[in-house]
Amino acid sequence: MRIQKATVLKEKPKDENKLGFGQVYTDHMLMMDYSPKQGWHDMRIVPYQPLELDPACMTLHYGQAIFEGMKAYKGKDGQIRLFRPSSNFERMNRSGARLCIPPINVDQAVQGLEELIRLEQDWIPTAPNTSLYIRPTIIATDAHLGVRASNTYLFYIILSPVGPYYAEGLNPVKIFVEDEYVRAVRGGTGFTKCAGNYAASLEAGEEANREGYANSMFVDAVHRKYIEECGAANFFGIKDNTYITPKSTSILPSITNKSLRQLAKDMGMKVEERPVAVDELSTFEECAACGTAAVISPIGYIYDKETGREWKFGDEPGKRCLEMYNKLQDIQYGRCDDPYGWTLVVE
Ligand code: PLP
Ligand code: COI
Repeated sequence: MRIQKATVLKEKPKDENKLGFGQVYTDHMLMMDYSPKQGWHDMRIVPYQPLELDPACMTLHYGQAIFEGMKAYKGKDGQIRLFRPSSNFERMNRSGARLCIPPINVDQAVQGLEELIRLEQDWIPTAPNTSLYIRPTIIATDAHLGVRASNTYLFYIILSPVGPYYAEGLNPVKIFVEDEYVRAVRGGTGFTKCAGNYAASLEAGEEANREGYANSMFVDAVHRKYIEECGAANFFGIKDNTYITPKSTSILPSITNKSLRQLAKDMGMKVEERPVAVDELSTFEECAACGTAAVISPIGYIYDKETGREWKFGDEPGKRCLEMYNKLQDIQYGRCDDPYGWTLVVE
């Protein structure tokens, strides 16, 4: 792989406790091109730079854009760990299949990412609850205005040192149940990580923020009755020693949620993946949103806009949420053994 190093390096953030989420980018990025003749080719690392796109670029018009989100963690032992990176690239290929984007080679993508991380390792923050967020992306690059799948694509990975996604951190957030907008529907693109899903969710999120909530909870588009997801994170609730999370074809299969289901089992809990009605909220002892960016974000208060009902879970994170949060982060930061083989140490 070609590596072109930046001649001038950027200044790194001075206070790692004030990183926020996705505001600074590292010195280099990884790129790779696709053409029908050459397939995916020319994987390279280059200085972080703007992309030059034709105004007719198909991504800008018809939205063929998919991405992923994962993190690199630097532990107290100085080791760098990636969390289940192959799962992210495999999911990227499932997103791609739905949007007519050709699949990448998962092993090659992981190796390219490792190389990029090695080069940028000084950017991985070490303050508590910080990490290096990794954003692999694929966009269509044909300049063409007829509606069809693009013939050419660009894959790239950028890196951003981050702190907690929600300013609340582990403090429980307030959310509302969205009564008007839906994010996705069966047969649509809800199970993919495509840009359009996020565009479709923006107004509900803005509305939540305007009204003093951290985010909105989406319900299913048909019955308007079953919980789907919370903004850019999956939902789970806990009751009777059981971890319960929605099963739906229109939500993103979260790698964090999958990992938590395993941890919950091994902590002696039962696990149920099934439709979860909004009505059931009154029976939960704890509930939370989970995802790479959010990790586990306990939910303290939920307001149902349609019916005016409200559910209070308290101002402190629940015991089970906290236990699972600590276990997951211990594995991610290498503070305990990883019996699952989830972490990839970048040598
Ligand atoms: N749901 C949506 C819509 C997301 O954007 C994300 C973030 O990636 C998640 C769920 C959580 O998925 P994961 O745990 O794989 O990050
Ligand atoms: C993630 O959790 O990785 C996400 O992608 C969430 C959001 C920043 C889109």
